[in-house]
Amino acid sequence: MRFTLPLLTAVSAGLSVLPSAFAFPHIQEQADKANTTLSARSLSEGIKLCPQLRARMEAAASNSASKLSKRDPDSVINPNAFKFDEAAQRIDVSGSHEWRAPQPGDIRGPCPGLNVLANHGYFPRNGVVKLETAIEVVEQVYGISPDLGGFLSAYATIFTGNVLDTEWSIGGPFTSSGLGGLTNLLAGEPGGINTHNVYEGDASVSRRDYYEPGANHDNVNVYLPYFQSVVDIAGDDRTRGKDVYTRDVLAKHRWERFQTSIAKNPNFFYSPFGGLVVTTAAHDFIVNFMANNTADEQGNNRIYLDEHNLFPFFSIKRDPKSGELIYTPGHERFPEDWYRRPLAAQFGLADVVTNLLKSGAEHTELLSVGGNTGSVNSFAGLNVGNLTGGLLNTAKLLDDPAALSCFLYQATVESLIPTQLRFLYKDLTGVLDLVDHFIGGPLKKLADTFPNCDRVKVDYSGADKFPGSKIQSGGKTGLLGALLGQKTRNVKQQQRRSA
Ligand SMILES: *[C@@H]1O[C@H](CO)[C@@H](O)[C@H](O)[C@H]1NC(C)=O
Ligand SMILES: *[C@@H]1O[C@H](CO)[C@@H](O)[C@H](O)[C@H]1NC(C)=O
Ligand SMILES: *[C@@H]1O[C@H](CO)[C@@H](O)[C@H](O)[C@H]1NC(C)=O
Repeated sequence: MRFTLPLLTAVSAGLSVLPSAFAFPHIQEQADKANTTLSARSLSEGIKLCPQLRARMEAAASNSASKLSKRDPDSVINPNAFKFDEAAQRIDVSGSHEWRAPQPGDIRGPCPGLNVLANHGYFPRNGVVKLETAIEVVEQVYGISPDLGGFLSAYATIFTGNVLDTEWSIGGPFTSSGLGGLTNLLAGEPGGINTHNVYEGDASVSRRDYYEPGANHDNVNVYLPYFQSVVDIAGDDRTRGKDVYTRDVLAKHRWERFQTSIAKNPNFFYSPFGGLVVTTAAHDFIVNFMANNTADEQGNNRIYLDEHNLFPFFSIKRDPKSGELIYTPGHERFPEDWYRRPLAAQFGLADVVTNLLKSGAEHTELLSVGGNTGSVNSFAGLNVGNLTGGLLNTAKLLDDPAALSCFLYQATVESLIPTQLRFLYKDLTGVLDLVDHFIGGPLKKLADTFPNCDRVKVDYSGADKFPGSKIQSGGKTGLLGALLGQKTRNVKQQQRRSA
């Protein structure tokens, strides 16, 4: 690995000299046998190792909570409120960060922004990244605040990665480096963020739905017609330096994609995390993280996204003769001479909530969980009222970002995650610490701005009627469906296994 950011070096160094205080005795035994170079450790030990990072994450989460408001910019802190700083904002694409195509065996996945990081050596080029490395890198390179970076990176680690090594893959399954493939997972090797419905979700910006007829389960590569529709909505304006790909354009596209999925995919499923949180946020990520930053006449920052900046991130070019779009899988890259947003205007969890609120105000379906019921155009979303037994409703969420934060907290941290964990893990010791520190804690800070949030309970028991939530691949029952439909049995099974 060749990270030049000073903090990163400290973090990676810290992780490789961890003291041994292991929380999983049966795995410790195997680890000893495997004689790996990475000493085993308890997860809470691991977390304690980076007090600096943790302090900054907590500060970011508090900061986010205090900034929740009904204001209406693309992000809570306006990047254009700062001076443009050429040296600080420029992203290096030379030397160890030069672009290189992935080699056989390197993992790339459905998220263009992460593929770019691996192709430029900001993430390890093999596509497998440590939890804390990811938090640092996405902050330094994209201006993602540590509370959001921590939330996403920890979710990826816990649900699609390996909690023993605290690492995850930006695409498909991987074998862990440190502990020689030991995982503590009931089902074997970790699936990476491709894992459908768990991380990756339907109706994404440029990828087809996993169960979309004709897609052949390809939810990883760009499907050009979907990308083309972003260009069409924007008016195919190629003016350099113009803010063409705005939030408005991407929000229109988000709704269009949602409707395409309802019309094309009988098994369309809009899941609590992959749908509600990830794919909706992904549209805002494009607007905010792929944008170039420059100076206006007064030297203030000006953030904008034109096609010259957007296309390389998606590995898309125009045919010089016909003007048609051409996509090369895996060749995502930074535009030449690209500048990220000012670090003083980081994009965090509060921004995700604020933008979800805006999307929900435009189309309330985007605040539901659910999907088609086995045929196209049969969308039956469970709305906020259905899910909370009437304690909250969509109107209330739209009126109050604190209520939406509370709903997201209850829908993920309190109801979805504990069940998902019991289904996934042999041993929960330590895993729960990770959840608390990186996911529960920051989201709870936002949720606590809503009075009596702990009274709100989210119940998914109506969600097992959506076949797209159930099937994982080849007709086998998948993680989420098994969860939503058979909660109790899985918890009992887990208890039997632990006994
Ligand atoms: C582990 O491997 C190292 C390096 O190969 C070796 O020196 C050491 O003796 C091994 N330890 C055990 C317990 O096998
Ligand atoms: C990004 O903005 C900088 C600063 O104005 C400019 O020099 C550069 O050419 C822009 N990059 C692209 C890819 O448009
Ligand atoms: C959800 O609530 C709506 C009213 O908001 C109701 O019409 C619908 O039947 C409910 N759905 C379920 C599955 O309970």
